Formats: sequence, C-alpha cells, structure tokens
Amino acid sequence: MAVKKSLENLRKNYQPQIPSILQNTSAVAFCNGKNGDPVPKEELRKLFPKTFDQPYCSLVKKSVPKKKMTLGVVFSGGQAAGGHNVLAGLWDTIQSWDAASKLIGFLGGCSGIIENKHKLLGKQEIDSVRNMGGFDLIGSGRTKIETPEQMEASFKTCMQHKLDTLIIIGGDDSNTNAAILAEYFLERNCPTKVLGVPKTIDGDLRSKELEISFGFDSACKVYAEMIGNIARDALSMKKYYHFIKLMGRSASHIALECALATHPNLTLISEEKKSLSTIVQELVELIVQRKKAGKEYGVILVPEGLIEFIPEMGTLIAELNTLLAREEQNPTERLTQANRTLFASLPEKIRTQLLLKRDPHGNVAVSQIETEQLLMELTRQELKKQSIEVVFQEHFFGYEGRACFPSNFDANYAYALGIVTAIAARDGLTGMVAAIQNLVGPVSNWVPKMVPTVRLMHMEMRKGKEKPVIAKTIVDLQGKLFLEFCVQQKRWKLDDDYQYPGPIQFFGEAELTNTTPKILERKE
Ligand code: FBP
Repeated sequence: MAVKKSLENLRKNYQPQIPSILQNTSAVAFCNGKNGDPVPKEELRKLFPKTFDQPYCSLVKKSVPKKKMTLGVVFSGGQAAGGHNVLAGLWDTIQSWDAASKLIGFLGGCSGIIENKHKLLGKQEIDSVRNMGGFDLIGSGRTKIETPEQMEASFKTCMQHKLDTLIIIGGDDSNTNAAILAEYFLERNCPTKVLGVPKTIDGDLRSKELEISFGFDSACKVYAEMIGNIARDALSMKKYYHFIKLMGRSASHIALECALATHPNLTLISEEKKSLSTIVQELVELIVQRKKAGKEYGVILVPEGLIEFIPEMGTLIAELNTLLAREEQNPTERLTQANRTLFASLPEKIRTQLLLKRDPHGNVAVSQIETEQLLMELTRQELKKQSIEVVFQEHFFGYEGRACFPSNFDANYAYALGIVTAIAARDGLTGMVAAIQNLVGPVSNWVPKMVPTVRLMHMEMRKGKEKPVIAKTIVDLQGKLFLEFCVQQKRWKLDDDYQYPGPIQFFGEAELTNTTPKILERKE
C-alpha cells in the first residue's frame, strides 16, 4: 500500500546529519580530558564523594570492539522537540554494535523506573517517532527519585534488567537527580551507570562546556512565528495591545531569542529584577508615548518566570515555598507582615495561583500564574488615572512549542546526543551529562564531550532546605546578546519594526533550514 505523502511521513524519513567524529563509533572512545571550567564547589565533595573528582571526557581515535549493550532510558520533565531523536540515536548506535542490544524505555518519567513500568523499544517503535516532536513513545513525568525507598526501588529495577546504563533525558533538576542516582549506585556497588542528556526548551541548562539543551531552538522558532503573526495582525487593525507570556520557568532566554527574531515594542527581561511598580510605569510610558504617535496597539513579551524575579514577589514566593513545604496550615496567615500585605493586595486569581501545589523539585508552577493578566490589570488602573483606555489581548505561548516537529538543528543535535551517550555508556562513564560543542559551525565539525554533572551544581534552597542542584544559567545582563537587544529595543518601542520569521523550514535553501539559535551565534 502506498504511503500517504504528508509532511509527517516526509519528516520521518529525514536523515539527521552526523558529526564526522561520530561516523564510525567503533573507532572512537572517551578518555579523560582537561579538568576544565568550572571546578566543582568544595561543599559538594561530601555529598558526591565518588564522582566529585571526575574530569571532563573527550573523544579520541581508538579502535573499540563492538559490544552488546542493555540501556534504560527515561524522559523527565517538560517536553522538548528532539527527544525521540535521542532515542533513535541511542538505538541505532547500540544496534550497529550488536543486534541483540536492548533499549528499554521507562514509562511516564522517573516513576516508571521506581515502579518498573517499561517497554522494550524496537525498530518499529523507533521508526514511528524519528524526527517527531513530543515524548509520547514512552511518556514523561516530574516525579523525582528522592526517598530511600525510591532509590532502593530504582536500584532493584536496574539490577533486574541488568542495565549497563540508565539514561535520564531531562533539564537541570532531572540531571541533578541523575547525578545523585549515579553516586548512590556507586556506593551500592550497582553495576548500572547513570548518564544525563540535556533537554529543556528553557535554555537555562548551559555552561561554558554545555552550549545548549535540545528543544530550545524549535520552541523559539514556533513562538517567533506566532509572535510575528500577532504583530502583523496588530498592525492590520491597529486596535489591540497584545500581552504575550512566553514559557521559560526561570530564565528569559526564550523571550530574548524571540524578541531578537521579531522586534516587539517591549520585551520584559526577568533578570533585570525590576519592581512591580517600575514595570507598570514602563508599560504605561510605552502606551502613552505610542498614543502620542497615534498608535494604540502594540506587542509586549512577558517571560513566564518574571513573577519570581520581581524582588518583592520573589521574597513572597520564597516564603510561601518554605511554608508550603512544611505543610503549614493556613500558610498565608503565617507570612511576615510585608509579605502578608503584598499577598493581600494581589488579585484573587493570582493569590490562588501562587498557592498551587509545587512540583516534586519544589518549583512554583509559573506556567499557571497569569503574570500577563496581573500586569494588564495594574497598567489599566494606572492608565485610567490619565483617562487613557486601550484594549488588551492576552496570550500564553508555551505548550505549542514543546512537541512540534524538531527543527533541523534540534533533529541533528538530539540524534547526535543519542550517539554520544551510547558511546559514553559503552565506555562505562557515569555521573555525567552529554554535551556537544562548536554547534554554530557545520554539523561535521561538532565536538562531543562528557561533562561531570557535579561541576554544574551549587547549593540552593529547595522546599525550605539547602540542596545540591544544577545552577540555572540565566540571561547575562552584561552579555553581548542582551546589550544588543537593549540598543535595538529603544527603536522598536515607537517604530514598528516587526519581523515575520514564518514557520520552521524543513526543505529548501540551507540558509533557511539549517539556522542555529541566536543564543549560540552570539556566544552568550
Ligand atoms: P523542563 O524544565 O522540565 O524542561 O520544563 C520546561 C517547561 O516547559 C517550562 O518552560 C514550564 O514552566 C514548564 O515546563 C511547564 O510544565 P508543567 O506544565 O509540567 O508545569
């Protein structure tokens, strides 16, 4: 029967480009590299005695016998385009070594490991998701492997399947969890190793050595297309101010990347840590100035994480986090006076959203807090004092960009990460995250590396306690990308310089299909 011609089918047949060094996986091996940067924080030594001193590892030419492997893999946290290609990269590589190699997918996130819910992945399953977005082949979840019982259950699962390596594909919190598990398995003399793959649309799992996570590029391209469409709509009827909240739990990398791609009138950058009143004043000034110029419409980007960076809101959220972690009755009544007054002054909807259940890592659910509505409401009140009325439209672009077809960049990158991780597993590495460097250049020149996870960590307050976690990389206010944005934004405020990036391109000129995120080009 002829296969229906559809973009989905054409995309499934896309062959990811492979870095030259990964073309023959039996001719390369990981070896200890330079100690590199950053050095791990000394206070982590006690918590990670076995993995603390591990160096970075680089690939060198070496002939390695083909080996049968049994790997376990799990998606952890929010979806990011390219996840299925990591599975494909892993599967293709271990199959090329030995057809009896096995890839076991744990279902629904880390709870799948704890409860030993799994599925053996074969050619048919892998082929059905090549270059497809989402994580639906095995699902995902936000469960953390934390308690002694959960660690023990994970140990048993890995032993039962005789896993050579367990691979956790996740963001900062999930990779932290992978490092803790790697250390625990070493302590228990468990033969299973644990490796991480950097995933998150947020773009905040980065370091000098780890250039970007997969999924960021595709998500930003989807949002930029939609922002461009909204801008053109705004320009056509000239009657609305569009407040667009963009995902990115903490850092504003997504908002910054999209701003540089579309030139909205105003983009708030959380890391500037402006107070609520300063932000509202800035919005009012923009609207008043544009009105004077005869413009009663505009496009404003609001990063999802903004609420936690507004200093007074951050303090309030931190105190609520601690109270909620202690399961205090009526937590809002136990707030300090200043926080209680601030809390009481907020719209009821926001108050309810601030109290929503934290995720297992202790994070507040910023995606469910309608920060854009709060800003719209406060701005409206201020404008009213000047007898100005404008019409606001609100949008939230988040989930739309997490399960889209991966861009060529993410398809290639995620597939290559799968191959790199399979090699690291074969070479017996543990407590490390896969990385690829030189990503701005041609794929053939990409340089794989394994980064010891403990080097990315610091101590942070979580659920009211100091915990080791991977430090999020937020927007650098002294960085080239942000400074360039600041200069340009001055012009975008009044001149409508909207850009229309259009949809992700998969076919045609390489200049359109093979672009890399700006965050990489500017070496931010
Ligand atoms: P990860 O950090 O797990 O990759 O998730 C990123 C993200 O898309 C954030 O941008 C967003 O705040 C969050 O997931 C939303 O997920 P959920 O609906 O599970 O809270």
